[in-house]
This record gives sequence, structure tokens and C-alpha cells, in this order.
Amino acid sequence: MKYTGIFLLLVGLSLPVVSHAFNPDQGDGWGPTAASNVGGVRNTRHNLSLDFATWRAFMNPYFNNYGEVCVYCHTPHAANTSVQGAPLWNRTASTATYTLYEQVNQPVAGPGPNSVTCLSCHDGTIAIDAIINMPGPGKYDPTHQLDEAFLDSWSGDIQHQTMLGCTQCHFTGNGWSIPDLGFYTVGPDLSNDHPIGVTLPNTSDFRILTGEVTGEMRFFDKDGDNKADPDEIRLYESGGYKVECASCHDPHGVMNPNGSTFIASFLRMSNENSELCFTCHVN
Ligand code: HEC
Ligand code: HEC
Ligand code: HEC
Ligand code: HEC
Ligand code: HEC
Repeated sequence: MKYTGIFLLLVGLSLPVVSHAFNPDQGDGWGPTAASNVGGVRNTRHNLSLDFATWRAFMNPYFNNYGEVCVYCHTPHAANTSVQGAPLWNRTASTATYTLYEQVNQPVAGPGPNSVTCLSCHDGTIAIDAIINMPGPGKYDPTHQLDEAFLDSWSGDIQHQTMLGCTQCHFTGNGWSIPDLGFYTVGPDLSNDHPIGVTLPNTSDFRILTGEVTGEMRFFDKDGDNKADPDEIRLYESGGYKVECASCHDPHGVMNPNGSTFIASFLRMSNENSELCFTCHVN
């Protein structure tokens, strides 16, 4: 808390410089960002060590800089197995109560593992740096609970902000080209978002899934190689094959087939002409 005033002041003084650190919007659909969005997740805004950024130091009082990219989401050991089906998951799961999309033709289930992962940051209730296994020996919290003292053991008594807390700087009209993190906070109210936790109805207004990884997922096998490629829309098994956040999004970025950067918004395929929607919906 004690740092806030000082840092806001410093950031305020350096406004013009900060805006120059950003790549202009190159017409590829991504908003202004310092990340190049090519080559891998480390060059995207999902790299929360922000080693592509000039001004990371401003953020150090607000969340732990683990100095690694994958660690904010994955761990090689001691993963959080309570989020079954999420690969080597390193985050504390949210305990928020979600308001679900109103039932249409089928019951809408709560978020499955491949939505719980995203919501552990994007519902805005959990600190961005709330992981259970920090880099280095002994830095492990087996209780899987958000434990402030544990998080403080990394770099002292700092704030451990949620995505909404980050809007102290990341808000619209702040004068810099940094993203408004309020825009990206989906929140616990999922009733105004595309339904998740739903299966594809076996009716003529939905297409037929063509690929399967038994017990894990079904997918639209565009290239017919019987592998679930990152650019293929998938439904994840959790008591039926269901639409989840990662059905449409790949948090690591998927290369644009004709472009020079990843497809905007971490989508698995471009939604130009609503192609993404038409993958599942017939009309
Ligand atoms: C004190 C102000 C401040 C706070 C608080 C802050 N940031 Fe930032 N953030 C910045 C500045 C300045 C930049 C631009 C850094 C650069 O690219 O050189 C930035 C850039 C970023 C970027 C890269 C954006 C892009 O597309 O280039 C991400 C991601 C980010 N911040 C995440 C966070 C998160 C998550 C939090 C909260 C845990 C947070 N920030 C809190 C000031 C802040
Ligand atoms: C912002 C969070 C986030 C970051 C950072 C991240 N991942 Fe992931 N990763 C996920 C999620 C969520 C999934 C599950 C959904 C999916 O399969 O795309 C996943 C899945 C995976 C998978 C399984 C893919 C599959 O198709 O089964 C691998 C391998 C992986 N990540 C490796 C990495 C590596 C290596 C890094 C660092 C270079 C990394 N990830 C960084 C969130 C992240
Ligand atoms: C470790 C925390 C974390 C996890 C886990 C995470 N995200 Fe993010 N995500 C962020 C942050 C922070 C930003 C904003 C970065 C910025 O503004 O530069 C972001 C931005 C985004 C954006 C906006 C990109 C844009 O420029 O339009 C999308 C879309 C997104 N995330 C989707 C997902 C999905 C889907 C998942 C799960 C598969 C996921 N995220 C998992 C932290 C996370
Ligand atoms: C049916 C496909 C689909 C599902 C499921 C889905 N999204 Fe998205 N999402 C999209 C599309 C398409 C966009 C781009 C919208 C745009 O450009 O205006 C998007 C945009 C976003 C953004 C950026 C918001 C913005 O204003 O640009 C975030 C963050 C995000 N999604 C997170 C999530 C999370 C978290 C989940 C799960 C709770 C999820 N999405 C589920 C299709 C989906
Ligand atoms: C991964 C497959 C998939 C994708 C991609 C997808 N949807 Fe859906 N959508 C579904 C399923 C499944 C349902 C629930 C259908 C039901 O229960 O009748 C649904 C329901 C809907 C509904 C109906 C909600 C209601 O209240 O009746 C709308 C509208 C919709 N989707 C729009 C979209 C749009 C727009 C896109 C593209 C941004 C999109 N969908 C992408 C699978 C998908």
C-alpha cells in the first residue's frame, strides 16, 4: 500500500515516454501493445513476467515478478489437481459463485476445468500472482489457498492485485496506451457471455464434430489429421463434451495463417465473416 502514491507519481511524470514504448496498432486486430504477438506466449500480454516491457518496474509493487513466463499458469511439479483436466495447473482456483447463462435447450453447467483456468484471473477475484508453486526449492503452498504470507515470501510485503485492482493504472483515459484491465475482466457474472458448460445439440442447426481424443475432447478436424491442433475449435470432456473458454481461445496464441502475428484476442481462428461462430452453428 505504502508504494502507491510514489509509483503513481512516477508513472505520471513519464507519460510521454511510456506511450512511445508501444507498437502502433498494426491493423492485425490487437489493441496497442508492446508485445509483438509472434513466436510464442512469451511475446504476448499473457507473459506476466513482462520481459518484453520497458516499464515492468512500475508494476513490481502490485504483483510478484516470478521472472518466468509459464509459471503464472503451469508448474512442472506439484500441480493443482483439484482442477482436473487442466494441464499441470499452478494457480489457486477461484471460489467465486458464478451466475450462469440462462438455460435455453439444456441445463447450463458451471464452468468446467478449461474455463476455471481462465477465470482464475479473468473473474477478477483472485490475485494475478496467486500460484501454488513459485520458482525455486521449498516455495510451495500445498493448501492451494490464497495465502498472503506465502505470496509475500517472494518479494516482501507488496500488493497482490486482482485484474480489477490493476485498474489503478490500467483504466480508460489514463493518458497512456496501456490496456484497460476492466475490459478484460469477465467477472463472476457469466449470464451475458456466450454459454459455457453446454454440449453441442444433436440438431440440424449445429455442425458435427469430426475428431476425438477419447475422454479428453472432441474437435472440428479441419485438416483431417486426427489431431487436436491449436487452430481447431474443441469441446472438452467434463461429463459430456462441452463448450469452455478454451474452446474458442488458445491462451498461448495461434498464428494467423496469412498474417504476421497471432490471431487477435487469443482466438483459435479468426472470426472474420463470423467463421468462428459458423464452426459450430449452421446459421
Ligand atoms: C503503477 C501503474 C501500474 C499498475 C498498478 C499496473 N501496471 Fe501494468 N503496466 C503499467 C505500465 C506503465 C505499462 C507499460 C509497460 C511497458 O510496456 O513498458 C504496463 C503494461 C502492462 C502489460 C503489458 C501491456 C501490453 O500490451 O503491452 C500487462 C500485461 C500489464 N501491465 C499487466 C498488469 C497487471 C496484471 C497488473 C496488476 C497485477 C498491472 N499491470 C498493474 C503500469 C501499471
Ligand atoms: C496465461 C496462462 C498460461 C500461460 C502463461 C501458459 N499457459 Fe500453457 N495452457 C494454459 C491453459 C489454460 C491450457 C489449457 C487449454 C489449452 O489446452 O489450450 C494450457 C495448455 C498447455 C499445454 C497443453 C496443450 C494441449 O494442447 O494439450 C501445454 C504443453 C502448455 N500449455 C505449455 C505451456 C508453456 C511451455 C508455457 C510457457 C512457455 C505456457 N504453457 C504458458 C495457460 C497458460
Ligand atoms: C495468470 C492470469 C491469466 C490467466 C490464467 C488467463 N489470462 Fe487472459 N489475460 C490476463 C491478463 C493480465 C490480460 C491483460 C493483459 C493486457 O491487458 O496487456 C489478459 C488478456 C486476455 C485477453 C485479451 C487479449 C486482447 O488483447 O484482446 C483474452 C482474450 C484473454 N486474456 C483470454 C484468456 C483465456 C481464454 C484464458 C484461459 C484459456 C486466459 N485468458 C487465462 C491474465 C490471464
Ligand atoms: C464461443 C466462443 C467463445 C467462448 C466460449 C469464449 N469466448 Fe471470449 N471471445 C470470443 C470472441 C469471438 C472474442 C472477440 C470479441 C471481439 O473481438 O469483440 C472474445 C473476446 C474475449 C475477451 C476480450 C474482451 C474484449 O473486450 O476484447 C476476453 C477477455 C475473453 N474473450 C475471455 C473469455 C473467457 C474468460 C471465456 C470463458 C468464460 C471466454 N472468453 C469464452 C469467443 C469466445
Ligand atoms: C464451440 C462451439 C460454438 C461456437 C464456436 C459458438 N457457439 Fe454459440 N452456442 C454453442 C452451443 C453448444 C450453444 C447452446 C445451444 C443450446 O443449448 O441450444 C450455443 C448457443 C448460442 C446462442 C443461443 C443462446 C440462446 O439463448 O439461445 C447464441 C446466440 C450463440 N451461441 C451465438 C454464437 C456466436 C455469435 C458465436 C461466435 C462468436 C458462437 N455462438 C460460437 C456452441 C458454439
